[in-house]
Amino acid sequence: MRTRPATPDDLDPIFEIYEHEVLHGVATFDLDPFTPEERRAWFDRHGPPAHPVIVAQDGDTVVGWAALSPFSSKRAYARTAEVSVYVHKDHRGRGVGRALLGELIRLGRAGGLGVLLARIAAEQVPSLGLHLSLGFQHVGTMRRVGEKFGRVLDVELLDYQLDGERDGGSDRG
Ligand SMILES: CC(C)(COP(=O)(O)OP(=O)(O)OC[C@H]1O[C@@H](n2cnc3c(N)ncnc32)[C@H](O)[C@@H]1OP(=O)(O)O)[C@@H](O)C(=O)NCCC(=O)NCCS
Repeated sequence: MRTRPATPDDLDPIFEIYEHEVLHGVATFDLDPFTPEERRAWFDRHGPPAHPVIVAQDGDTVVGWAALSPFSSKRAYARTAEVSVYVHKDHRGRGVGRALLGELIRLGRAGGLGVLLARIAAEQVPSLGLHLSLGFQHVGTMRRVGEKFGRVLDVELLDYQLDGERDGGSDRG
């Protein structure tokens, strides 16, 4: 298994993996599958250095993907990106998520970002475990902010300080 930058040819497997969570899970708060035009627009909004999309490939098969997305369109937030990591349901528990998130952290640092954020539904135990094991820290709980499948959901906010060492761990505000 290896990770590599995604290309437009990867959009079908990327969104096949994502659509499973849209329709059946609470990993994403999207409620509707993306149209082909929306898939392409999503891809075009990303790109190195700060907003890469990567895939994990096992043989010829894309088994997972990850991305750094802009956290906000407000420009003062440009040092911050939000992480997404999705592994195909048949390929979980074999280190794919760890490889993808580790590579995202490396790329985010290389791309000059200062902070990575993760918003994770409170019941997503594997995702919380993955992020915490790679050094993300719990910031707080956004209570009752989401609703999916008729259930009101809490969301945990986690961060990863990429340039904390450079700042001596201080908050530049
Ligand atoms: C979360 C997800 C990406 C993890 O991917 P994965 O390839 O199964 O994870 P890995 O095998 O690399 O596991 C890495 C670490 O994650 C944690 N983890 C993974 N599965 C877990 C589980 N079922 N329970 C608790 N912790 C788990 C562990 O800390 C694990 O480290 P360890 O194996 O040393 O214990 C995957 O479960 C997934 O795609 N889930 C649905 C989508 C999602 O929730 N994405 C995150 C939203 S941003």
